[in-house]
Amino acid sequence: MTGVVLAGGEGTRLRPVTEVTNKHLLPVYDRPMIYYPLKTLKEMGCESVVLVTGGEHLGGFAELLKNGNDIGMDIIYRVQENAEGIAQALSRAEGLVKGLFPVILGDNYFSQPPPMPDEPTLFTKEVADPERFGVYQNGQIVEKPTIPASNQAVTGLYVYDERVFSLFDKIKPSDRGEYEITDINNYYLKLGAKVVEMAGDWFDMGTFDSLLRATNYIHDNR
Ligand code: DAU
Repeated sequence: MTGVVLAGGEGTRLRPVTEVTNKHLLPVYDRPMIYYPLKTLKEMGCESVVLVTGGEHLGGFAELLKNGNDIGMDIIYRVQENAEGIAQALSRAEGLVKGLFPVILGDNYFSQPPPMPDEPTLFTKEVADPERFGVYQNGQIVEKPTIPASNQAVTGLYVYDERVFSLFDKIKPSDRGEYEITDINNYYLKLGAKVVEMAGDWFDMGTFDSLLRATNYIHDNR
């Protein structure tokens, strides 16, 4: 199975640290951030992965991971020319993945990867600060609601099938100028995607505080 890891974006919440490098190459305790989502995909059964990132830091990923031999996965690189959203990054994997496949955001850490489901699935987790995330509430997902109606955050792990590539034409950039994965996920809910609450612990690592929490957690639980 081939999965997808999305590692583009500008890492604006981690400036100035991300001024000259990509967020996913930063250390999280003793390894670069990107190792953690790759490990999650491997544990879900991926022997290969499409890594999507912006052209400016592709060399850093290639230098670090090469063809993926050291981590036991084949890596196929694809470029997202401008950081115009997670959904746009995913569109760059078209033609390289088949059947049912997992997609993970490069800044997401899961302590316990779920078993690979047998149908399209979105994974949620109860959090104390849902306003920072896409929130699953009243049967649909709202991206970063000011007043969340539930504490179920939509994590950055999704299982799609090839139908996902026909949905990109249906969505428009949001107010923050990005093609939102939440819009794709709301289509998937209409197509009957399952919503499953994650076991174990989950962190995004995209802010200084969440990066520090993840680093301490990994240090303490290694
Ligand atoms: O972490 C889970 C959250 O991730 C979800 O709850 C939200 O629904 C989802 O929109 C996303 O929210 P963020 O605002 O945290 O996403 P962020 O812009 O930090 O992007 C997350 C990852 O997606 C990033 O580490 C790399 C990838 N990405 C992002 C953008 C904007 C790309 O590959 N290309 C992009 O253009």
